[in-house]
Amino acid sequence: MFTFLLLLLVGTALAQESGDSVPETFIDKLDKAAGDEVDVIDKTFDKDYGEEKWDEEDLSLNEEDERMEPEISEKAEDSECPNKGTCRYHVFRQPRPFGCAHRICRCRRGNLSSIHSCSANTGLANVLKRTCLNASFVWIGVIKRNRCVPYCNVDGSSLNYANWGCGQPKRGGTWCVAMNRYTGKWVSLNCNTRLPFVCTF
Ligand SMILES: *[C@@H]1O[C@H](CO)[C@@H](O)[C@H](O)[C@H]1NC(C)=O
Ligand SMILES: *[C@@H]1O[C@H](CO)[C@@H](O)[C@H](O)[C@H]1NC(C)=O
Repeated sequence: MFTFLLLLLVGTALAQESGDSVPETFIDKLDKAAGDEVDVIDKTFDKDYGEEKWDEEDLSLNEEDERMEPEISEKAEDSECPNKGTCRYHVFRQPRPFGCAHRICRCRRGNLSSIHSCSANTGLANVLKRTCLNASFVWIGVIKRNRCVPYCNVDGSSLNYANWGCGQPKRGGTWCVAMNRYTGKWVSLNCNTRLPFVCTF
């Protein structure tokens, strides 16, 4: 009996180690990978840009950023652009801190994309899946400017939809929001993190 129990224990331990006792779905794996990446991203945000001040009025760009071209441009769902039938998502693959990404979008008379429905969120995630980006996360147009104010859309529209990931959003302080392009879930990240980004215009 004792030997049997011992064998059972060893068997269970081995099964757990090799991972086959815990069936994992594809999405679980992606979520886990994405979780890992959040840690990596938070630790390795690029200090070249320094601690950026969020200045809504300052829209200055360096030459490289001024010339930057989107990787793909795709028609956004009409409901995302009530008065502009032709508006599109423009995905930029060069990673930039949130403030710089915001200026690049504004410089083209757009804004970092706001999302107002589940179908639009899925639509944008599908666009992002088709792009060839280095990162799992992409800046969207949602920010919490400081600890005293709630999250809001940078284009001034009301934040009437959100798709927060597990344990999100982060509270207190200043946070910028990125979408996981595999799951469509949103996460709060340090605004100085350099990520690809998506503008609507
Ligand atoms: C993507 O990653 C590769 C390898 O790390 C790097 O060489 C390349 O410049 C990156 N591309 C962009 C657009 O950041
Ligand atoms: C971009 O956002 C600003 C507010 O920050 C707003 O005044 C402007 O109309 C927006 N542009 C578009 C194209 O949504």
